[in-house]
Amino acid sequence: MIAMSIAERALAAVARQLGQPSGLAGRAVGRLLNRGNRSVVVAAVAATDCGPGADVADIGFGGGVGLDTLLGRGVAVVHGVEMSETMLAEAKRRFSEPIARGRLRLHSGRMEDLPFDDSALDAIISTNTIYFVPDLAAALKELARVLRPGGRLVLGVGDPGQMSKMPFTRHGFRLRPIDELVPAIREAGFDRIEDKRVGDGQGAAHLLVGELPG
Ligand SMILES: C[S@@+](CC[C@H](N)C(=O)[O-])C[C@H]1O[C@@H](n2cnc3c(N)ncnc32)[C@H](O)[C@@H]1O
Repeated sequence: MIAMSIAERALAAVARQLGQPSGLAGRAVGRLLNRGNRSVVVAAVAATDCGPGADVADIGFGGGVGLDTLLGRGVAVVHGVEMSETMLAEAKRRFSEPIARGRLRLHSGRMEDLPFDDSALDAIISTNTIYFVPDLAAALKELARVLRPGGRLVLGVGDPGQMSKMPFTRHGFRLRPIDELVPAIREAGFDRIEDKRVGDGQGAAHLLVGELPG
């Protein structure tokens, strides 16, 4: 077996931190994610089209820019779901006030097994997460289960061609083609699926928006 070079090991460590930020380095990764992904996350929140009265979740919220944006939009209750204890602890500290007021609820969990009743939510955003989900069909079914009829799902993903140029994505990222993702979302029960682009040119990120039949 050929030993992994130091550079490849460093890239693998970056990929691991992006997939599940942890410890001191994970906290720094959370801040970098907030800066680097802000435009996609803000566009994902806008694409939910949710206003006051809605219950909305951000699954895999990382540094929390989506939670902040949803709270700023005035939705009734924001739910944040994370499997990273570091990101949960950071969000608990940063958002203590909306948590105390009952406007934000944080949950430890995974997209494949969500801590919600059936039809509990009006909308879900999840950005830059599905690269780390091995069984996407099962996760999409679970997302459909917890959305009410007419509820909206917004998945944000980097363009696979663009992502494949980033060397850390060689280490465990699942870069699924968009024309495989759209039928997978439809198969889970969503319709009116749109591929909205965020950014310029061929490498612009994708917001895949789908609705459950009303
Ligand atoms: C690359 S970060 C993206 C964070 C944020 N959504 C953004 O766009 O900046 C991926 C986040 O998803 C979380 N994550 C990965 N797999 C997940 C899963 N199966 N269920 C829930 N969260 C997951 C990780 O812990 C990490 O915080």
